[in-house]
Amino acid sequence: MKRIVMSFVLFICLSGATGLIQAEETAPLKAVDISLDQATLKQGLGVFTDVCMGCHSLRYMTWKDLMDYKEIGLNRKAVDELRGDAPLNAHMMTGLSEADAKESYGTVPPDLSVMARAREGKGAYIYSLLTGFEHDPKGRIMDGNYNIYFPGHRIAMSDPLGWLDHDAADEKDLKQQARAVASFLTFVGDPHQLERQTIGKWVMIFLIVLTFVFWLLKRAVWSDVEH
Ligand code: HEC
Repeated sequence: MKRIVMSFVLFICLSGATGLIQAEETAPLKAVDISLDQATLKQGLGVFTDVCMGCHSLRYMTWKDLMDYKEIGLNRKAVDELRGDAPLNAHMMTGLSEADAKESYGTVPPDLSVMARAREGKGAYIYSLLTGFEHDPKGRIMDGNYNIYFPGHRIAMSDPLGWLDHDAADEKDLKQQARAVASFLTFVGDPHQLERQTIGKWVMIFLIVLTFVFWLLKRAVWSDVEH
């Protein structure tokens, strides 16, 4: 009995504590124009390889995919410049080891292949997160690790594009780079969506034509029957 009471008390305390942690509400996501046009995807890829890949991988994406997906459409030379010594069919992995990551950030940065799809808000979440680093009003969390879109507001990733928002011109650049990389990660999370949209269009046209053919057929078959 005593044990049951104790575990009950423990349960109440724990749920109270998680309640307190989660009481720090995340802000509603910003609206952003995620676009999957080639220029935006290329810019986003650039931000990814220049900045994010220092810590994050895309384990479902190979260097070759950057050529094969015509939406990105890099040529061989550009891919070779990006991949360095990595084989063409290698996955896009960060050079940061898990041990080093744990030592520096206390955690391993998650793989970003399907991150845009996994989070509520998708691309808008990534965009909001990247532009959501602020000064903690309560002063407990260091600048660069306080993010109003991250649950609990304390994020182990220090503001990766923080070097961009010092003046108004940089602020615009920050938004543009955040939008581009959020678009790129949205594409990476579901690279076949454009293809599916095109196929979907042809399926519709095919069905309309088929309906018309059946209608003609029905007319032909019934034309012999006296009304
Ligand atoms: C210096 C290392 C570092 C760099 C560079 C970096 N990140 Fe991170 N990132 C992290 C770490 C560490 C976490 C885990 C944060 C946590 O769980 O508190 C993380 C988490 C994330 C998450 C997941 C947040 C969630 O909801 O769980 C996203 C999305 C993300 N990073 C996007 C990016 C993008 C986009 C870039 C490039 C613009 C980038 N990161 C650059 C270290 C980094």
